[in-house]
Amino acid sequence: MIPGILDALLEPALLLDPAGRVAMANTAARDRLGVWMMGRSYISVLRQPALLAPVEDAYAHGTEGTARFTQSSGEVDTLYSVRVSPIRAEGERQRHVLLVFRDVSELNAAPTMRRDFVANVSHELKTPLTAVMGFVETLQGPAREDPKGRDRFLALMAQELSRMNRLVSDLLSLSRLEGQSRRRPTGRVDLAELITDLIAALEPGAADNDVDIEFDSPPTAMAPGDRDQLTQVVTNLVENAVKYGARPGIVTVTLRRVTREPVIRGPAWRIAVTDRGAGIPPEHIPRLTERFYRVDTGRSREQGGTGLGLAIVKHIINRHRGRLQITSELGKGTTVTVTLPAEVNA
Ligand SMILES: Nc1ncnc2c1ncn2[C@@H]1O[C@H](COP(=O)(O)OP(=O)(O)O)[C@@H](O)[C@H]1O
Ligand SMILES: [Mg+2]
Repeated sequence: MIPGILDALLEPALLLDPAGRVAMANTAARDRLGVWMMGRSYISVLRQPALLAPVEDAYAHGTEGTARFTQSSGEVDTLYSVRVSPIRAEGERQRHVLLVFRDVSELNAAPTMRRDFVANVSHELKTPLTAVMGFVETLQGPAREDPKGRDRFLALMAQELSRMNRLVSDLLSLSRLEGQSRRRPTGRVDLAELITDLIAALEPGAADNDVDIEFDSPPTAMAPGDRDQLTQVVTNLVENAVKYGARPGIVTVTLRRVTREPVIRGPAWRIAVTDRGAGIPPEHIPRLTERFYRVDTGRSREQGGTGLGLAIVKHIINRHRGRLQITSELGKGTTVTVTLPAEVNA
């Protein structure tokens, strides 16, 4: 056999000799499966029974087969689909066996993610639904002749139903965004005006919680973008700063021009929303844009959160070819920064 021939394959590949020992291992196999295997028996190298059976069949009967092989290194498992092929060189009576390892971890992860998502949605809907059913039963039974109790239960029901309503709206937003992720927005927006308007709308609610909102901005800030979606982005960031910031407290929003943002490769607008709350422990920060990820689920629910806000924000910013950064210092507060291209061809 030609030495090194297996290096032409990008996937890990092993050639077993007729005695069942590793005769060749390509670079990918040495890097990903370990270098210690040359000359050793396949039984001690592979060890996983699911893979041993097809190899035995290949030797004994000359049959091709596939098998699953899982490799664990540290925290990550890599799942391979292994093609087992008997090979008989011309004039030789005994067989070699070739194993080619195809990494199928990602193919496998997509259905798992979908399953997790469906499980999460069901759970999030089930909680308010169960509460509403409980209130209905109470109203039909013990609270029937009690006008005061009735009003209280109706108010609680309205609260649970509006939670479900928010959840469904957020889910619809997400699915719409996923459908249009490759289409860039076509509108033009004055960010200064957009933020001024939405702060005016959020101020009364913030004031009820003793939170002031400050805004520092140039008079106009034109950018390509979808007005409704950018409103959704800044609204969510300001609402988070009000919800998870300090009370009483101040939320500061700044809008600045950046002449050249390296990643965007052109002029940009930078929106920063800063609160002076408890901050976010660093291990959570990279995961905040995952759907339903919350640092403190109880607190988020109490505040009427769905855990989908930042996932929506991330989708909208990606669609606008912008960037999202979250920095936080425990005990000091959090700053969320959104950078958006200021010109279409940036
Ligand atoms: N300014 C902030 N300060 C502290 N934690 C925050 C802040 N913004 C977001 N978070 C955390 O990130 C989580 C996800 O945010 P988000 O997706 O908007 O969900 P929601 O607001 O519905 O809880 C929140 O539940 C909260 O734990
Ligand atoms: Mg939110």
